[in-house]
Amino acid sequence: MSVDIDVIVSSVRAVARDVLAIELRHKSGQSLPAAQAGAHIDLALPNGLVRQYSLVNATGQKSADSYVVAVGLDANSRGGSVWIHDRLKAGQAMRVSAPRNLFEMAPEHRRVLLLAGGIGITPIYAMAQACAHQGLDFELWASARSAPRLAYLEEIKNLAKGRLHLHFDDEQGGPMDLSSRLQQQQWGAVYACGPAPMLDALTAATAHWTSGSVRMERFKGAEVSTSGRKPFELKLQKSGLSTTVNENESVLDAMERLGVDYPWSCREGICGTCEASVLSGEVQHLDFVLTPEERAEQRRIMVCVSRCGGGSLVLDI
Ligand code: FES
Repeated sequence: MSVDIDVIVSSVRAVARDVLAIELRHKSGQSLPAAQAGAHIDLALPNGLVRQYSLVNATGQKSADSYVVAVGLDANSRGGSVWIHDRLKAGQAMRVSAPRNLFEMAPEHRRVLLLAGGIGITPIYAMAQACAHQGLDFELWASARSAPRLAYLEEIKNLAKGRLHLHFDDEQGGPMDLSSRLQQQQWGAVYACGPAPMLDALTAATAHWTSGSVRMERFKGAEVSTSGRKPFELKLQKSGLSTTVNENESVLDAMERLGVDYPWSCREGICGTCEASVLSGEVQHLDFVLTPEERAEQRRIMVCVSRCGGGSLVLDI
């Protein structure tokens, strides 16, 4: 995704403990490309890092006056959130990408459950606004370690009113118990964003739900074990390059070893930047971008994490 829209930070404000909301406007005052709820943008930070953040104000309007993202201070930050919290000020110029949506709401889902944990509230708040705007039947379950840590708390109270269920770990003595609440599929779909333990619990609790009714977005990839991996042959059809991808490297690592400059951002299988077209080979999908249907088609691969289940993989690169 090219990061080619010049913007200026028009405001930076705290919206919860350790969460800053950043508003971005086009440098020359133009309107910005529109986005549906669930979309994210890439921010090219002045320290050279590119990071993805969900748009809080993506609700499907034809164009946008500004983009708003909310950034939590990550204790394990690799330089993105810490830089934003320590250094970013109103007036800063930077570049962003056009919005991209890997967490889109399906129009056939008319009764939806929205589930947010911590900073995962950002795309979920946008979805709640879109649901309210469209008159959809929705419920919003939002949780955080404590009330002061939940961004947009007052806004979601006003928006969702009787449809809102709040859960704070410090008051309840632990995380929300999803298994008992989700035994029956009362909703057309659940859309969820939050920490990995919450999403893993959701996956287990909804294993019996209908196919395609559980949609989630992760903000951190899973820990990937390298045990049991096998090497395989990689051929890049257009470039005419080939190599062996070893057990302890990714397809992207192998491409870089060959001198191929290929776009990437997260290297965790969650952003979709490194997608490539597959010409042949059996892909072992390890990303969180493709749907089960897209995985079954075997036409696309996220080269930062996914591998080949057979002896060789040919990509259209
Ligand atoms: S770089 Fe983000 S999915 Fe591969």
